[in-house]
Amino acid sequence: MKRIAVLVSGGGTNLQALIDAKQRGEIPNGKLALVVSSSPRAYALQRAANAGIPTKVIDRKEFSSNQEMTVALTQLLKEKEIDLVVLAGFMYILTSELVSAYPNAIINVHPALIPSFCGDGFYGLHVHEKALAYGVKVSGATVHFVSEECDGGPIILQKAVSVRSDDTPETLQKRIMEQAEWKILPQAVCLFCDDKLSVEGRVVHISE
Ligand code: GAR
Repeated sequence: MKRIAVLVSGGGTNLQALIDAKQRGEIPNGKLALVVSSSPRAYALQRAANAGIPTKVIDRKEFSSNQEMTVALTQLLKEKEIDLVVLAGFMYILTSELVSAYPNAIINVHPALIPSFCGDGFYGLHVHEKALAYGVKVSGATVHFVSEECDGGPIILQKAVSVRSDDTPETLQKRIMEQAEWKILPQAVCLFCDDKLSVEGRVVHISE
């Protein structure tokens, strides 16, 4: 059984999707062992508590840099014997200390079809604002392994969602969450826990 830590900063709907998938028996080889929040006020902490998952706050404000926070976080994850780290709406860029401690064992969900609308400054609602301003007709979500390049690691799963002419950033965000993120994130976590993912260069192979 793989021990999973989910890192959050806000509402935690992707965390909820993982909790619900686990409760439906869709992640048989994974245990949601820890939820870490970058803010003590994140509603995601309440979702974790409701599901009986241990929580920890690693408050960004208490560290002088992302690097200092990442070192503390990496130490915590190792202490708790975590096998898989899931970034589910985690709003800080983690530094190389975590990536080298967990090679191809950190998964991020991003609310666009990478390599579009990703990288520094593309997070949360901003991603959808920029996609609408560009005029794309299709957007979606990507689940990928985390490498040292922001949003640049090997892609595990993607799902496209049509953009409507009357979409606002909020309506597009909601549809991408419902139709894409909440589906492909639990699927990717399940594949990892079943040892079905292998990485060759940039390419992720999924075994049957
Ligand atoms: C989600 O849409 C997630 O894809 C996005 O933040 C939202 C968090 O929502 N993540 C990023 O933009 C990372 N670059 P949640 O807290 O309800 O899961």
